[in-house]
Amino acid sequence: MKFSVLTLFPEMFNSLNESIIGKGKEKGLIDINLVNIRDFSKNKHKQVDDTPYGGGAGMVMKADVVYEAYKSLNTKNAKVIFLTPQGKTLNQEKVKKLAQEEHIILLCGHYEGIDQRVIEEIVDEEISIGDYVLTGGEIPAMVLIDSVSRYVEGVIKKESINEESFSDGLLEYPQYTRPEIFLNKRVPEVLLSGNHQEIEKWRKKRSLENTYKKRPELLENKKLSNKDKEFIEEISNASSKNIEPIH
Ligand code: ADE
Repeated sequence: MKFSVLTLFPEMFNSLNESIIGKGKEKGLIDINLVNIRDFSKNKHKQVDDTPYGGGAGMVMKADVVYEAYKSLNTKNAKVIFLTPQGKTLNQEKVKKLAQEEHIILLCGHYEGIDQRVIEEIVDEEISIGDYVLTGGEIPAMVLIDSVSRYVEGVIKKESINEESFSDGLLEYPQYTRPEIFLNKRVPEVLLSGNHQEIEKWRKKRSLENTYKKRPELLENKKLSNKDKEFIEEISNASSKNIEPIH
């Protein structure tokens, strides 16, 4: 999968050389092509921004410079995404869909924004990573690259994708590793039992419980079995009486 990033700060993306994404790059599964927008300024001072028409605070990135940077890329079969708080909020479903793309071009804004005319000309979709404002689109672009790359075959194990939070619309169950006792807290007995069916049941229940307690709105659109519904009823009754359900 290929990502091209149009940015004024390509060095910010060095962190993607680490860890799982770094390995994906080394294996040739992910290609991240960083394009410095400043290289396309024809101005002798390499100026990339100017004051806004109509006045106001800050500077606006110039349409022609951004457009030249975009035109330097092979845009056939590419999807152009502009990272902006005005976009649709990224979620796991969207991440999965984006992983089907061949080439994603990420446009990162800075200063007070980018001249609207170039946005209208080149952008297919606007994406936000949440309702807060960052200093630029670079961190959101890295969030998108990281989350989408996990779905590229070979980057992480298939089982990890199936077991993680949101994979079936629920949050993940709690995890434990050695030692068996830590600060007087024991690992739940069932996980030591070797009984895979019971372990699966326990994990499903903890997933439901986590989701119900931490992100109840995720359960609203989820199809639940009668057994799941009964269990949620049980937790709901227990929590209204301030009783910890028995694990
Ligand atoms: N640029 C600045 N803030 C942003 C956000 N929350 N999401 C995407 N791009 C941004």
